[in-house]
Amino acid sequence: MMRRPGMRERRPASSGEMVACSSMISTVKPGSFFMQPAYEVRTALLKGQKSRRKRANRPIARPRARGPYNLEGMVTSYTAEDIRGLVDAGIALTSELSLDGILLKLVDVARTQAGARYAAISVLGDNGEISQFVTSGISDEERAKIGHIPYGKGLLGVLLHEGASLRLADLAKDPRSGGFPPNHPPMKSLLGVPVVSRGRIIGNLYLTDKQQAEAFDERDEETVRLLGTQAAAAIETSRLREQLESLARLQERERIAMDLHDGVIQTVYAVALHLEDAADIVARSPQEVGAVLDQSIENLHQVIKDIRSYIFDLRAQVSEVSDLPGAIRELAESLRVNTLMDVHVSVDERAAGLLEQDQALALFHIAQEALNNVGKHSHATTVSITFEGSSAQGVALAVEDNGAGFDTSNRAGREGHGLRNIKDRARAMGAKLTIDSKPGIGTRIIVQLPAARVKGLAG
Ligand SMILES: Nc1ncnc2c1ncn2[C@@H]1O[C@H](COP(=O)(O)OP(=O)(O)OP(=O)(O)O)[C@@H](O)[C@H]1O
Ligand SMILES: [Mg+2]
Repeated sequence: MMRRPGMRERRPASSGEMVACSSMISTVKPGSFFMQPAYEVRTALLKGQKSRRKRANRPIARPRARGPYNLEGMVTSYTAEDIRGLVDAGIALTSELSLDGILLKLVDVARTQAGARYAAISVLGDNGEISQFVTSGISDEERAKIGHIPYGKGLLGVLLHEGASLRLADLAKDPRSGGFPPNHPPMKSLLGVPVVSRGRIIGNLYLTDKQQAEAFDERDEETVRLLGTQAAAAIETSRLREQLESLARLQERERIAMDLHDGVIQTVYAVALHLEDAADIVARSPQEVGAVLDQSIENLHQVIKDIRSYIFDLRAQVSEVSDLPGAIRELAESLRVNTLMDVHVSVDERAAGLLEQDQALALFHIAQEALNNVGKHSHATTVSITFEGSSAQGVALAVEDNGAGFDTSNRAGREGHGLRNIKDRARAMGAKLTIDSKPGIGTRIIVQLPAARVKGLAG
């Protein structure tokens, strides 16, 4: 089955046993969650629980190999194994790109590291209400039965609005708790930390039902705090990315509006004026009208061509290429459809296996810019795209057309984004770039990635 990033398998909860890593995301309207009375405060609990704390109760058996190491500002000491567990968690988190995916992993990791039955993270939206709610340890069925995601009142409100951490042996006994909604699974012990970024509370991370112990301990709290810091960084990064994307979209819209105004609309306007003239003179000078009509038809064909190549240019920006040969074929097909050129593609599938992700992406963008230029400037009848390579010879991409060509020595004012991007990308990946173009003959662009920069042949 295909899985979107961040999608997890859902397993039904079996009553009485620990629910295996089933996690859920929710972005629907909030309701209530923790809302029952309770009484214990974390420091009192800490003292009371310390004597009962046993090593066997640790969620993961972690032998004290070396160490312990003291992390700055923390009262608990961590063994090498503890730190490795957290570092592994960090690596797992950075392997996720989507915020939902990161939060899902984070609640799973928090639940496992602190030995909890349930874990959840709430993220506040711009309006201060919970906009995202991700859980671990609770099944789809259970979530559906509870209905709404929390409003962020009761004990969650303490985390969200007062910024205090909570560690309770029995959350139902805390007077600030407002009780559970119907069909909510029973939960007893609670550990919650606010998720803080740049001094602002942007969410909370909490766990319930410590397994094999009465309550969460100080060490669990510090672990969860560390994970909360990672959650804050992930949330902020995702928000910044969204802002950048929306800014880029705005700029793109403005560019399109300007391009259409300056280009296509002016030409169509000119054609309309000519046709108006033609209407005026048709009675007295029909032969002149013939010339005006011919010119107008030619101009309209040019407009159609311009719009086609403009659409070709507007193709969505790709940020990941998992199948470079396929992506090159798609570019070629799109050029063929939009320009009616004769497009030849020769792609060596094995060569793609020699490339790292970022190299494949860079070559894709180079091919895209080169083909954009062929479509826009060359007026060629034939274009060929070749992609080949071996671990002994390296990888090469070539785009060649038989069009108008241009004077590569005459750079003043001619280089746009396309050629500059091609040069920058080739330089950044350590490839040799050849731009060979002669007016009236055509253009050939070759990017050669030396053998030293490609992977050995797989298999
Ligand atoms: N295949 C080609 N055939 C003919 N001329 C080309 C070809 N490729 C590039 N050129 C010439 O080189 C110039 C610079 O190309 P470049 O891609 O850098 O800019 P652009 O296509 O004009 O604008 P942009 O890429 O920023 O949209 C073009 O304006 C064009 O004159
Ligand atoms: Mg260009």
